[in-house]
Amino acid sequence: MSIRTIPSGQLNGNGHRPRLRIAVVGAGYWGPNLARNLKASPDWDLVAICDLDVERGRKLADSVGGVAVVESLDELLDTCNLDAVAVATPAHTHHGVVMTALRAGKHVLVEKPLADSRAKGLEMVDEAKARGLVLMADHTYCFTPAVLKIQELVASGALGDILYVDSVRINLGLVQPDVNVFWDLAPHDLSILDFVLPGGLHPTEISAHGADPLGTGRDCVGHLTFGLPNDAMVHIHVNWLSPTKIRQMIIGGSKRTLVWDDLNPQQRLSVYDRGVSLEQQPRSAADKKASAISYRLGDTWSPALQEREPLGQVVAELATSIRNHTMPRTSGESGLRVLSVLEAVTQSLGTDGRSTIVAGNETNLQVVR
Ligand SMILES: NC(=O)c1ccc[n+]([C@@H]2O[C@H](COP(=O)([O-])OP(=O)(O)OC[C@H]3O[C@@H](n4cnc5c(N)ncnc54)[C@H](O)[C@@H]3O)[C@@H](O)[C@H]2O)c1
Repeated sequence: MSIRTIPSGQLNGNGHRPRLRIAVVGAGYWGPNLARNLKASPDWDLVAICDLDVERGRKLADSVGGVAVVESLDELLDTCNLDAVAVATPAHTHHGVVMTALRAGKHVLVEKPLADSRAKGLEMVDEAKARGLVLMADHTYCFTPAVLKIQELVASGALGDILYVDSVRINLGLVQPDVNVFWDLAPHDLSILDFVLPGGLHPTEISAHGADPLGTGRDCVGHLTFGLPNDAMVHIHVNWLSPTKIRQMIIGGSKRTLVWDDLNPQQRLSVYDRGVSLEQQPRSAADKKASAISYRLGDTWSPALQEREPLGQVVAELATSIRNHTMPRTSGESGLRVLSVLEAVTQSLGTDGRSTIVAGNETNLQVVR
């Protein structure tokens, strides 16, 4: 990828790279987390907070040491001499805010989901590419030590061939005003799978079922399924109505099975050397039935994980991508692969869960590692 060269890539007199200048747009629930990590980063100079709600912007600006507060995006882009903006506004505003920032020549970090439709996401990715700017999706989980370890275990073949993935992301969630539970929560599961699955997230068809039992106007409970090569299957359950909070992903492999329980800091990951094996490789369905099934009952171990805040890694990766002209791990393209699945989810929901083709997977978007 070719990215605009910026003068701030050179070393200053102390041998340190000068900090890049950034502002956070959106000072609601998530914006403060971005602002705090940018403020703490040696790569960034957090120069302003922008929010339509000036009081909210001022409160956040005060909490990070009194940076400037700006009400309008145009004023922010005109006056603050920024290298980049970090966008933490609601999903339906991402396209407008991001396109304005890109057209003003700014690199962009944007919250998940990249946009509220695939067409808008594609426009954003194309705009960034045409201008040689970094467009990074904040798929925060891809920067957690647990997900990095999962990616390493899958890539090394320690789990063998993937047989199934079962992900549960449920709790009493905030019913979002602009998106349903799939668009709010499933971007996490889908972006994680895009990162850890060999070859990335490229289902050709998906099927989704949703329910809105309280009549909120949008699905609050959802189940999404799709296939992987070799008849493997992925199931994702997202739910805003559950009184218990569960964040669990099971990746069943032909050699080992991995269980990620993100709410168990003492043992987030467990690798089970247990499972079902066929004693001989079957050649046909009839052979398969006849094959002898055996059970492996080996050890369970828990990889050690370093605890560190993923958003710190997100903002460091953004700076590295800008300075080195490289594609971030969670590029706009990865955000687009997530949107392709989400859009198919919407179509499947409209047809009572019928299997739906995922647009874009027939194109030659590259998976970048
Ligand atoms: N990465 C994660 O783990 C994670 C977690 C939570 C939320 N998010 C994402 O963060 C984004 C924001 O979610 P939230 O819960 O913080 O929303 P929120 O409603 O709490 O805050 C959004 C803020 O954006 C402001 N805003 C809206 N339009 C604006 C505009 N055009 N210009 C300037 N300010 C504007 C609003 O006034 C509000 O203060 C969403 O995309 C959400 O999916 C990501």
